[in-house]
Amino acid sequence: MATRKTIFACQECGATSPKWMGRCPDCGAWGSVIEELRGPAGTAKGVKHQAGPVPISKIPTDSTQRSSTGFPELDRVLGGGIVPGSVILLGGDPGVGKSTLLLQILAAQALKGEKVLYVTAEESLRQIGIRAERIGRGTEDLLVLAQNDFPAVREAVLSSSTSTVVLDSVQALHHPDISSSPGSISQVREITSEAVALAKSRDVAIWLIGHVTKDGAIAGPRSLEHLVDTVLYFEGDTSHSYRILRAVKNRYGSTNEIALLEMTGGGLIEVADPSSLFLPSPGRRSPGSTAVMGMEGTRALMVEVQALVAASPFPNPRRTVSGFDLSRVLLILAVLDKRAGVQTGGLDVFINVAGGLRLTEPAADLGVALALVSSLREKPVPTRTAICGELGLSGEIRSVPRLQDRLQEASRLGLDRAIVPSAGLERLRDKQNMDLISVDNIEEALDAAFA
Ligand code: TYD
Ligand code: MG
Repeated sequence: MATRKTIFACQECGATSPKWMGRCPDCGAWGSVIEELRGPAGTAKGVKHQAGPVPISKIPTDSTQRSSTGFPELDRVLGGGIVPGSVILLGGDPGVGKSTLLLQILAAQALKGEKVLYVTAEESLRQIGIRAERIGRGTEDLLVLAQNDFPAVREAVLSSSTSTVVLDSVQALHHPDISSSPGSISQVREITSEAVALAKSRDVAIWLIGHVTKDGAIAGPRSLEHLVDTVLYFEGDTSHSYRILRAVKNRYGSTNEIALLEMTGGGLIEVADPSSLFLPSPGRRSPGSTAVMGMEGTRALMVEVQALVAASPFPNPRRTVSGFDLSRVLLILAVLDKRAGVQTGGLDVFINVAGGLRLTEPAADLGVALALVSSLREKPVPTRTAICGELGLSGEIRSVPRLQDRLQEASRLGLDRAIVPSAGLERLRDKQNMDLISVDNIEEALDAAFA
């Protein structure tokens, strides 16, 4: 430890100096110099040393016995549970429920007899106690430590044989070897890389909580993503009770998976049937609304898309989009104009995906297009009709991945009619007893929806 010293290194070119400078004298970059720890302990990246290379078939894999979080949905996002020795970064806005989620996970693990440790550097033991009371669980195997000094936390982890540790939050912990204040880039990086070393050498799973600031930048967890095994983001505005947990990086599972949770008076609960949540009852259908067969990761999800096209009081009409990509909406409007003669030039256009959800895949294009035309013509899309298809620049409707899963979900929710791309339809195994209307281009789709 004594041989470690702090130096100041430029993040652009790697030049070092013994003191901080606003501008790197080597490459001339401004504000790129940050404090770093150099020396034996800082260079140990935590991978256990071995004598020499081994055949791949001889590598023991029994250590990948995963531990359940108590939330089957979350286990699925993690790729089947928590891997021992992994480091998971949970990012999210303050107040979204990160501490609540992790306390619940630890409580569930403790209930199964695993020894777990919750380290809080932000709150008092009393506050944790009050939260634990709300979620209504607690056993002897869930230990809580209020401490913000990182070496002391490491000692606690080393001396107690825990299987999972939560550090809440990485921004509030302090490493005494670095002079900058807690939450600075140098501090959070050093703490994260030492936490990784600790996790790998002791086979404990470590959760790091990181706050994301609104501008996303200040020492935010983004600068830590490459250091850890898994990065989860906890999303949802505090005015809605629904929360989405999204994997953006996962060494032990697939990304793009989401879990839907709901914040209640007694902690977070899983949303059992997310599709029914985001879809209005099949009977109601007003102009400007469509039921889109969406996909979140490997899960099909029915989502309601709403559009409003109205006369604009302004010389420059507005295009306001929430939950969908604005540039794709502009493209859809252009294709509608050019290929189907649907003009929205002087009109305001609003698009909204119900329930605060975000649709990111092009397969939702056709649903958005039909919602727009439906609002413009004041004509509802027939009830119980599900829609999917990607819109090409020449007005063609392109095939979508996993049509089978989408139809299955739509049929499960009681929809019995679907407008789908004709391309790729021959590969469909089962029509799910649905009335399938296959379309090749946007004009055919408009005919199918509004004939
Ligand atoms: P918290 O987990 O402290 O958020 P974070 O750690 O991400 O900053 O809690 C977030 C909010 O959740 C807080 O405003 C209180 C609320 N809450 C509930 O609604 N129900 C509960 O059971 C608990 C524990 C908290
Ligand atoms: Mg918190």
